[in-house]
Amino acid sequence: MTHAQKPAPDAETPQAGFTKIYAESSPPWDIGKPQPPFIAVADQIEGPLLDCGCGTGGTSVYFAARGLAVTGIDFVEQAIALAKARAQAQGVSVDFLVKDAMTLWSWNRSFASVIDSGLYHIYEPVDRHHYIAGLRHVLKPDGRLFLFAFADGPNAPGGGLTRQDIARDFAEGWSIECLDYAESELNPAFEHPEQLAGLKMWFAIIQRTA
Ligand SMILES: C[S@@+](CC[C@H](N)C(=O)[O-])C[C@H]1O[C@@H](n2cnc3c(N)ncnc32)[C@H](O)[C@@H]1O
Repeated sequence: MTHAQKPAPDAETPQAGFTKIYAESSPPWDIGKPQPPFIAVADQIEGPLLDCGCGTGGTSVYFAARGLAVTGIDFVEQAIALAKARAQAQGVSVDFLVKDAMTLWSWNRSFASVIDSGLYHIYEPVDRHHYIAGLRHVLKPDGRLFLFAFADGPNAPGGGLTRQDIARDFAEGWSIECLDYAESELNPAFEHPEQLAGLKMWFAIIQRTA
């Protein structure tokens, strides 16, 4: 596991850990635009769109520039401040909010699509189930989740997820339309790319069916 991919082990909470990462480093995921698979299926992503764990907003801003109504949430204030500055600099409007993704289940909002680029894979199984219940709550009945997550492998932070993990997590009330290995990009300013050598990622499109 690399300190730049997951909260520092000595951090009091995950939120404190991510806050420290944004304050002290160039995170490997922070590429200022969507990861390649989101761009490849951009035509399939409908608004209103929730970018869950949006970081500094590169993905949200990209889809807002395509004309979608976009809400981006992250629990790190600094990330949301950078995201707001990015949207302003690019002249697009995004509803960026400091919000914990574990509170989705009680949120009075509804979306046609949700993007999760690097959040779901952070959670332990019990938290993944709570998070997925929240996703189900905010997605419209036929809405779709577009998911980008660590695949299991030697350099996967936390061990990554197997195909079976994802199939099990979304077994009830969801239909997995596709689940394939995906191309990923790394922030060129990240100081330890060797830590992530050979890392594999999943990309999935998962529809809410119940
Ligand atoms: C790997 S980063 C990905 C950021 C962004 N999606 C991207 O692709 O650049 C994961 C993001 O999720 C955020 N995050 C982690 N747990 C969260 C939670 N419970 N609620 C909201 N955001 C969370 C972190 O602050 C971080 O910005």
